[in-house]
Amino acid sequence: MALDLTPEQKATGKANFEQAAGDLARAGKMNTMAVGGAPVDPKNPDRRDFLKVGLAAGAVVPVSAAVYYGYQSWKGNKAVKMALIGCGDEGGVLIGDHNPEFNEFVAVCDIRPSNLDRIYAGEPNGPRKGLNKIYGVDNAKKIAKYDTVDALIGDAKKLGIEAVVIATPLNTHDVIAKQCMDAGLHVLCEKLMARTIGKCKSMIQYAKDKGLLLSIGHQRHYSTLYAQALEVVNAGVLGDIKHIRAQWPRNNSFPFTATDAEKAKFAPQYMNDLPFYRDGWCKPILKQDADALTPEKLAAVAFGDVNQYGFKDVKELVRWRLYDKTGGGLMAELGSHQLDASSIILGHVHPLAVSGIGGKFFYGPGRNDRESDDGVFVTYEFPGPTHPKGAKKGKDENDIVIVTYSSFNTNSFEDYGECVMGSRGTMILSKEAEVYLYKEPEPGKANSGGRDTKVTVGTGGKGPAMESTSTWGGGGGAAISKAPGASAWDSAVRGYRTEMEHFAYCLRKWQELGKPVSYEKDADGHLKYADIMPRCHGEVAMADAILALTGNMAMAKKERIVFEEDWFNADKMDAVPETKHAKKA
Ligand SMILES: NC(=O)c1ccc[n+]([C@@H]2O[C@H](COP(=O)([O-])OP(=O)(O)OC[C@H]3O[C@@H](n4cnc5c(N)ncnc54)[C@H](O)[C@@H]3O)[C@@H](O)[C@H]2O)c1
Repeated sequence: MALDLTPEQKATGKANFEQAAGDLARAGKMNTMAVGGAPVDPKNPDRRDFLKVGLAAGAVVPVSAAVYYGYQSWKGNKAVKMALIGCGDEGGVLIGDHNPEFNEFVAVCDIRPSNLDRIYAGEPNGPRKGLNKIYGVDNAKKIAKYDTVDALIGDAKKLGIEAVVIATPLNTHDVIAKQCMDAGLHVLCEKLMARTIGKCKSMIQYAKDKGLLLSIGHQRHYSTLYAQALEVVNAGVLGDIKHIRAQWPRNNSFPFTATDAEKAKFAPQYMNDLPFYRDGWCKPILKQDADALTPEKLAAVAFGDVNQYGFKDVKELVRWRLYDKTGGGLMAELGSHQLDASSIILGHVHPLAVSGIGGKFFYGPGRNDRESDDGVFVTYEFPGPTHPKGAKKGKDENDIVIVTYSSFNTNSFEDYGECVMGSRGTMILSKEAEVYLYKEPEPGKANSGGRDTKVTVGTGGKGPAMESTSTWGGGGGAAISKAPGASAWDSAVRGYRTEMEHFAYCLRKWQELGKPVSYEKDADGHLKYADIMPRCHGEVAMADAILALTGNMAMAKKERIVFEEDWFNADKMDAVPETKHAKKA
């Protein structure tokens, strides 16, 4: 993302962001930062927790996620007893990042035996620490293990399970979520919410009818890094934003290779179907899984007689992202995150239109064959603040923000991220870990902007604005942007842990209230109980699904699709983009 920036320029951009966040905090314009020397708010005494002892007057530190998201009063609550359904790559990440003080996993469920093993064992490096490491081997043995959702649900009462985390393939989300809600369990389901918008709406309806929490795992809603970036954007220092460039480039074009030891674990019946290229979406099929999951068993055992979310064979199960029936391709898997980020930055406004080009430009028969696109370039038209559909509901029809998103499988030169371009500055969010801020140069004024220019933020006059400076001391706010190259797996930055903690907090708050979860809205259309609702609840997540899936439809039909407001209304069950725009099989 930070194309051709030198390490020095990245350091300047990172320090500029910290300086801007610090300056805005000192002017009382940042909720994510605490300013030293400030009197403790008597209504919010817990702020002492993050105002470190000895913090000098005017010094600034980030507030904790718990304080920022309002659940610092957790102490004294019992951890919510939870089950994980789907113990694959993402299930492993969520387990690796959860906090047992809030979320105690008492059961796990997967239909693939290899992943049931992996969720306990974890991986030696990286975020998938495994249950054995987190709970200790002896305690982990007490965590119940299931190979069907039916069996797990059958034991839910006995185990005291209150909620589930669902991290299964896209086509299964709505069915498993409803199955769990039928059993009275609250649901935190991974993104993308569902395979169609009709299914998203029915999940929301289900949660409302049953009075249960439904949260969807778009973790950027809980990233304090994104929260800080948003506050800096909202302060207006970027000026008039007309373009966001988002991208997730990867290179999956190198030949697949495996050692003899690895090959010994592959299913012999799928040896002719090994991946041609090394690609995390097109994995080899393990013998352990193939032996356990014959097509008959997949149809009959795993899903009972309701084979609505089944997979015809173990290959389809393992490589679910490659098929239209089971996945949503690059837009659902990667694009949804960054379009989510873009829409957060633009104030959660709904897009106006989308068009794009996508295709199987690289893979094909014998080359990691797939139905989903291997390259996409999509253009979204969003309303700017003064557009009639924009945040300020103005009158300027021309106030449009163009958001482009691209993802290709054949080149990873640039990092993934979002570049927000305004008339007075540029903000680059890179790899969910780093934020760089630069000022636009002013005409005729040397060293007044650009990638080498250090800035402060003046908050007088017409409002916050970046000013170039030569007397800058280097980073004034200790914002939580990671140093370039530092680990991107910081919990506060990534948002997974916070998302699960906040979910537990909301659940306990509803129990305190002693009534079913209510999705009632006030006269302005806002949730009445928003402060005890997951930030990415069903309606928020549905908007992300609409962005991603309608992008797919625009590419498939090569048409510019104009978004209809009713698609975003969860109560209008029949208003969905797929009826008009899905490509007929
Ligand atoms: N939030 C994020 O950043 C992020 C990142 C990666 C994946 N995800 C999402 O997480 C979900 C899972 O992705 P993944 O990469 O872990 O996929 P995966 O294929 O690695 O794991 C999915 C697991 O679900 C299991 N499963 C399938 N059907 C099941 C059923 N009926 N009952 C029980 N288990 C079942 C599979 O056997 C597999 O082990 C997807 O929705 C994906 O989009 C989110």
